[in-house]
Amino acid sequence: MTTPDSFTTIDVVMTETRRFEPPPGFTAAANVRDPNIYERAASDVQAFWEGAAERLSWFRHWDQVLDWDPVGVHARWFVGGKLNASYNCVDRHLSTWRKNKAAIIWEGEPTDESRVLTYADLYREVNQVAAMLRSQGLQKGDRVAIYMPMVPELAIALLACARIGAPHSVVFAGFSAESLRDRIIDCGAKMLLTADGGWRAGKIIDLKSIANAAVAQTPSIERVVTLQRLGPDNHKVEMTEGRDVWWHDALAATTAKTVDPEVMDSEDPLYILYTSGTTGKPKGQVHTTGGYLTGVSLTHDWIFDLKDGDVYWCTADIGWVTGHSYIVYGPLANGATVVMYEGGPAFPDKDRFWAIVEKYKVSILYTAPTSIRTFMKWGTEYPNAHDMSSLRLLGTVGEPINPEAWIWYNEVIGKGNSPIVDTWWQTETGNIMISPLPGLVATKPGSATKPFPGIMADVVDGAGNSVPANTGGYLVIKHPWPAMSRTIWGDHQRYVNTYWAKFPGTYLTGDGARRDEDGYFWLLGRVDDVLNVSGHRIGTMEVESALVSNPSVAEAAVIGVPDEVTGQAIVAFVTLRGGETPSEQKAQELREHVAKAIGGLARPKKIYFTAELPKTRSAKIMRRLLRDVAEGRVIGDTTTLADPTVLDSIKQQYDDDN
Ligand code: PRX
Repeated sequence: MTTPDSFTTIDVVMTETRRFEPPPGFTAAANVRDPNIYERAASDVQAFWEGAAERLSWFRHWDQVLDWDPVGVHARWFVGGKLNASYNCVDRHLSTWRKNKAAIIWEGEPTDESRVLTYADLYREVNQVAAMLRSQGLQKGDRVAIYMPMVPELAIALLACARIGAPHSVVFAGFSAESLRDRIIDCGAKMLLTADGGWRAGKIIDLKSIANAAVAQTPSIERVVTLQRLGPDNHKVEMTEGRDVWWHDALAATTAKTVDPEVMDSEDPLYILYTSGTTGKPKGQVHTTGGYLTGVSLTHDWIFDLKDGDVYWCTADIGWVTGHSYIVYGPLANGATVVMYEGGPAFPDKDRFWAIVEKYKVSILYTAPTSIRTFMKWGTEYPNAHDMSSLRLLGTVGEPINPEAWIWYNEVIGKGNSPIVDTWWQTETGNIMISPLPGLVATKPGSATKPFPGIMADVVDGAGNSVPANTGGYLVIKHPWPAMSRTIWGDHQRYVNTYWAKFPGTYLTGDGARRDEDGYFWLLGRVDDVLNVSGHRIGTMEVESALVSNPSVAEAAVIGVPDEVTGQAIVAFVTLRGGETPSEQKAQELREHVAKAIGGLARPKKIYFTAELPKTRSAKIMRRLLRDVAEGRVIGDTTTLADPTVLDSIKQQYDDDN
């Protein structure tokens, strides 16, 4: 484990001093211009969030803003309030001029496919799907697993579930059958919504076969509703009589065309979303209705400086929290026009993103550092071939952005006049926690700047004391906030232990950070055994368990190594069982084995075979030493190793290869 002390080394290296003031014209028109907002929010956190909750449409007003039990770790926000998320994202816009405003502009990967849904269209479709889900047997409180490509029906599905009060659990379409199966089993989903496939990088992703393999082992699933995205001419799929139904057939068979939104309690779960942790089993984060929607709506409005004329594009997949909060719930609650793109950035050519910006006159672009680094590698000719003068604000999320990529984003994409909001947050936090307010806060490349108003972030040492400026420490949040995850599905104790036990009453983020002399936060990566590959969180333990589930593997240790494009890349050190011989073919087999077990995103970049792993005398694998080898550092203290010579042979192999 990396300790906050070891961050001091990083501090010395990071000496970024450039500073970018918000363009004056931007500030003049910004949604938030009052610099006292931070102090005001901090002076009465509950009053601040209560004001924010007024943005939503409630069926019943709350009786109490916050009920907080720091011992049992139960937070209830807007207690007694009643509302419905789909009503807030759809219905309430129909009584305004936004009725005919574009809600979703969808661009398929095939260049001749696109759709625009106005808020009125969205209302019609969400209602029809909600009615269909009900007629297929779903009731309030039932869980629904969703495994779909980035098509409008995915967003519609989320809102339809919210409408009838059935918590959804979206599983990213890149996950394997086993990952999907485990998530379905964990939340006991009754229904699965999927598709015959989707397009990605010019190829078909065969979602239905994966879904079929998963559902073969999930007794809780009673019905699988499959959307025809590709059609039988492109791709034939297997349907199981009695369990499976086509989405369009189910819709046609549903007589009701509208559904009254369920009256949900502020604290009723809106969704469950799984995220990796340090142990093998993913954690189902439970997000509620009132607090979550308040948080995502306010942060989306203020951080992205949303105006009614904006065309807002978040390039994330709805399978991740970024898509939940900043494609679906936040923007739609705010009546925004949201661009949604199905496919990959290099199809048909490497300028696809910029062609989309030009085509729809995107004004706000929210993407990930790993994408920016990829675009840098591809070259400026791709963005420069397009008119991107519509852009006025840029955002990043998912991992620390290196200053070089920040500057490139600013100059090549933003033409030097679009503020960049580097947004730090997590699946657990629900909404953005640290980010500039773009009209108020000067930016520094690589810093997420300041906690959002009402977010009480701090950097502390192992005893929980705030550390001085420019010292590394644990990033924590000292006061509950409305959008925070309330529990881990089915395991509240694990939620308490993971996030709230180290510093009672305080939320432990799992990230390291330092604050500079201006109070700006610089994120330093995870302090636990969690990797960040292309902005996606993967537990080292998950990959290790996948490896050892292969019959030829005796033991495995997985580490993250710095990677120019993906931020971190996965490297595995593997000891084979007796009788097995290391070979390139075996390495390839194991890489595919991990991809099959977890999903392509977890496929190790490199596998090293080693006769032994470096272990302490109590048999604990010392990943820290493996990281030293991989990063070419002087190897740390080896005195606790059972057999110090083990490292020499690993080092020899690693150095020969690099
Ligand atoms: O380590 C932090 C990193 O991503 C983790 C959260 O991952 P996940 O729950 O998958 O959510 C990703 C999208 C919100 C954090 O613990 N992270 C996310 N954003 C940033 C970041 N690290 C540095 N800077 C960021 N802007």
